[in-house]
Amino acid sequence: MEEPIISVLKETRVFPPSKEFSGKARISSMRQYRELYRKSVEQPEQFWAEQAEQLHWFRKWDSVLRDDQGFFKWFEGGRLNVAYNCLDRHVEAGKGNSIALIWEQENGQATTFTYAKLLEEVSRMANVLKGNGIGKGDRVCIYLPMIPELPISMLACARIGAVHSVIFAGFSSDAVRDRVQDSDAKMVITSDGGFRNGAIVPLKDIVDKAVKECRTVEKVLVVKRCANRVVMKKGRDSWLHDQLSSVRSDGCPAESLHSEDSLFILYTSGTTGKPKGVLHTQAGYLLYASLTFTHVFDIREKDIYWCTADIGWITGHSYTVYGPLANAAAVVMYEGGPSYPRPDRFWKIIEKHKVSVFYTAPTALRALMKQGDDWPDKCNLKSLRLLGTVGEPINPEAWMWYYTVIGRKHCPVVDTWWQTETGGIMITPLPGATPLKPGSATLPFFGIVPGIVKEDGSRAKENEGGYLVIRKPWPGMLRTVWKNPERYKHTYFEQFGVYLTGDSARCDRDGYFWIMGRTDDVIKVAGHRLGTAEVESHLVSHPTVAEAAIVPILDVVKGQALYAFVILKKGNKPSDRLRQDIITHVAEHMGKIARPEKLQFADDLPKTRSGKIMRRILKAIAEGAKDLGNTTTLADPSVVEKLAKGRIA
Ligand code: PRX
Repeated sequence: MEEPIISVLKETRVFPPSKEFSGKARISSMRQYRELYRKSVEQPEQFWAEQAEQLHWFRKWDSVLRDDQGFFKWFEGGRLNVAYNCLDRHVEAGKGNSIALIWEQENGQATTFTYAKLLEEVSRMANVLKGNGIGKGDRVCIYLPMIPELPISMLACARIGAVHSVIFAGFSSDAVRDRVQDSDAKMVITSDGGFRNGAIVPLKDIVDKAVKECRTVEKVLVVKRCANRVVMKKGRDSWLHDQLSSVRSDGCPAESLHSEDSLFILYTSGTTGKPKGVLHTQAGYLLYASLTFTHVFDIREKDIYWCTADIGWITGHSYTVYGPLANAAAVVMYEGGPSYPRPDRFWKIIEKHKVSVFYTAPTALRALMKQGDDWPDKCNLKSLRLLGTVGEPINPEAWMWYYTVIGRKHCPVVDTWWQTETGGIMITPLPGATPLKPGSATLPFFGIVPGIVKEDGSRAKENEGGYLVIRKPWPGMLRTVWKNPERYKHTYFEQFGVYLTGDSARCDRDGYFWIMGRTDDVIKVAGHRLGTAEVESHLVSHPTVAEAAIVPILDVVKGQALYAFVILKKGNKPSDRLRQDIITHVAEHMGKIARPEKLQFADDLPKTRSGKIMRRILKAIAEGAKDLGNTTTLADPSVVEKLAKGRIA
């Protein structure tokens, strides 16, 4: 990449596209990007219809887009199958022997699946599902570690029209229970355990606890991974390998599904304690995941692509499974901890499998950066040609480290902004066209019309912060909140009449977007999206806790961490032991990712006269701010001083 030039704003260094991409990528100049972008927003139906030709259809659509009273329908009348698009059509095109999946185990062994092999495995799995009474529209919860059975189960569901709901394997029993209950799942697929940093996480035990309270679950399929002891409940539980060995056929026809049939539900955190079941459907989601993957990573036949996200989150859904496989890419999937057994594990995997396109989160970069440059310097990272980040704002220091130490100044860094709800990447550089500014996700993808609005709905000025909205529908957008269409309308469309992202951002003179953070009660801890209300509900489920409030504090590695204020029930005394006990309780019930970093006992919380907790003030206290802002609207302003004195530094 050429030496950086100074931008017109003189605020950031700008990195123009490198020789490897400029003039060579699919979108290889700003002019080409702007022309296609203009078409995509001025004639969206024509644009998306042309793009949709890339997919395999059993029947083409009648209409491209319809607004059904705020619920958007894409490609209605069309019929297709997502698994067919990800597997069969590549095998039919002679790519059966191409690599689909390289699975790196935590112990260092690796297994490779060709497209033909993956198709066979998915078909057999689909037959197991059918044999267990799973059919079109049934919900299947998948609670698995990063093992091949995870994408195989997802694709098997997609093949027969069942709706999968993957639950991140770092969640604990109550979080699993809530998600299984809300989806009314008929089946849960899990494993005896999962390897993480050399230890075994007892996943089946967690499922046992969770499904005790889930009436709808009829079957639990168990993958044998760690050979740890588990209890199998007769009539409900069975080993997957037993079921697979009794499957008679390796073939399973792909169901012809409507474009708007449900593909999956993925729970994500919002403002209330109950996580939202974000619903994605078939055609629009697949098209959007696939097209963004093609262009953002400018993927080539020889590429070995690795996304480090867990498949339990949307990044893994769209950019380990559906986007890459729809493009017939070779995908690396890694089972274990990022620093196991040593901090060079990521770099070793890149070296070993000759990864050329690498996609990870700023948190991981900051954590690895802390370990020093020696680790990556000692590895051969020459295979890399493109780097990506996602999940949270990347600070310019981490960006520069990624670009310099990992990318050796010749790999573009694509900082991709998007959400569970958007299905795919929304604001992003295109490596052959977009000059990069460290810390900015840059420009909108085709068909995406972002805007920044102020509280009163008016447009923000250049560089003025405001609410990030998306003004037009796009194929990958969520269709609704599962079983809760009112929440869909209320959360995303009520305030401004256009899609509200929940993020604040500003847009600079070059039209570049700079994401500033969330505007709601969502906190991003190490890139994981947590709702304060959900964590608080797990705090108050501790027998000694009367009331709790969570606020974010800055963390140099995780970006944000959780700070908890806890009021104890009468008769309980604060102590270090009790503090630890409450923190462990949250970890056990919700998951380690939700563990508060700091917990302060309080006698009272700052509330308005109508009883609303003023989080703004709590946040200022937790951060140790000198100026706590206006406290005159509080019912009892003296509370603040006491809390500030008891702050845990
Ligand atoms: O706040 C934004 C942040 O992550 C949120 C979405 O989280 P989730 O649904 O878990 O999806 C994460 C993976 C797509 C957003 O509302 N976020 C995501 N990407 C970026 C980001 N913040 C800044 N820069 C990004 N590139």
